[in-house]
Amino acid sequence: MHDEFAQAVALLQAGELVAFPTETVYGLGADAANPEAVAKIFAAKGRPADHPLIVHLPGAGYLDRWARDIPAAAWELAEAFWPGPLTLILKRAPEVPYAVTGGQETVGVRVPAHPLALELLRAYARAVGGRGGLCGIAAPSANRFGRISPTDAAHVHEELGAAVALVLDGGPCVVGIESTIIDLSRDDGFPPRLLRPGHITPERIAVVIGVMPALPVASQDANDGNPPRVSGSLDAHYAPLTPMRVAPGAGLPALLRELREGGKCFGLLAHSRLPGLVPPHALRQLPDEPEGYARAFYAALRELDQAGNDLIVVEDIPGEPAWAAVADRLRRAACGSGQLRNTIVDLRN
Ligand code: TXA
Ligand code: MG
Repeated sequence: MHDEFAQAVALLQAGELVAFPTETVYGLGADAANPEAVAKIFAAKGRPADHPLIVHLPGAGYLDRWARDIPAAAWELAEAFWPGPLTLILKRAPEVPYAVTGGQETVGVRVPAHPLALELLRAYARAVGGRGGLCGIAAPSANRFGRISPTDAAHVHEELGAAVALVLDGGPCVVGIESTIIDLSRDDGFPPRLLRPGHITPERIAVVIGVMPALPVASQDANDGNPPRVSGSLDAHYAPLTPMRVAPGAGLPALLRELREGGKCFGLLAHSRLPGLVPPHALRQLPDEPEGYARAFYAALRELDQAGNDLIVVEDIPGEPAWAAVADRLRRAACGSGQLRNTIVDLRN
């Protein structure tokens, strides 16, 4: 494993891509201070170049190399939640290349909690840490643009194959969905705005900064025809190729019967015990609480996507705030699902 870190650091220094585990999802890393290296991330993912990337740091002590005018709330949040699944959007320091900020005056930063990610970041820092010694590794989720995020090293190989020089294998990710993103970059005051819900909830943030963050605005309004500030704010995202349909648990018996009678092949993603259903062709039963559900969600969706079904049926999840981050990913996956397939599923047939 030691050799692997040395190899990973050498590749990053040489401007190559290295995928690594974080506690949320696997990241596709490059030297964040090297625009040519960052360009390789966009090429490998097929991601538009105006989407900003998150810069991963070895510790909060590196924050002021990347950001300026850092408000007190940012230091408080870093102290409370780093290493951990919280990304802060701050005003970028002058050295930060526009390649990594998607041309914006802000930069997204976080210190990940996975031991391998931290070990990699620290080894990188000891080796002077890339161009200008800034010690940041830019890493979006290691999937092709718009597709399901990888929560296992095998998923990264499936998604990116030879496009990535090295994949560090840290086993399955424990959080399973991407970090919470909070915008602290605006001069027009408090409270900061939540850009993407995640494992760190607005309620926990409020305990630290003394005020509830403003919640995300509807995606159309947020983007307003401009490049998206958060690519997860595009409606279609995290999506399987198989069409997906979310239905309330109570409606599932009738829906599945109808699908079976129509000769459809379907997979089911459920979280409650649902007795008396027509058996699906593939079933993934997820935990009936939000953290366990989030941990297993992307892998389950990926498996159902690969099972060769006409449709993935998903049992709708509870509307409570604790499920908000999962609900966000589920809605976007359903919205983007089936887009690359010509299959039209007409449920009346
Ligand atoms: O959990 C995570 O955050 C994972 C792991 C690998 O750390 N990374 C991740 O990266 O989800 P990505 O690129 O798939 O999503 C990061 C989001 C993007 O949608 C991007 O638009 C947003 O963070 N972001 C980055 N910098 C930003 C900025 N300056 N302003 C607004 N949004 C920003
Ligand atoms: Mg992503």
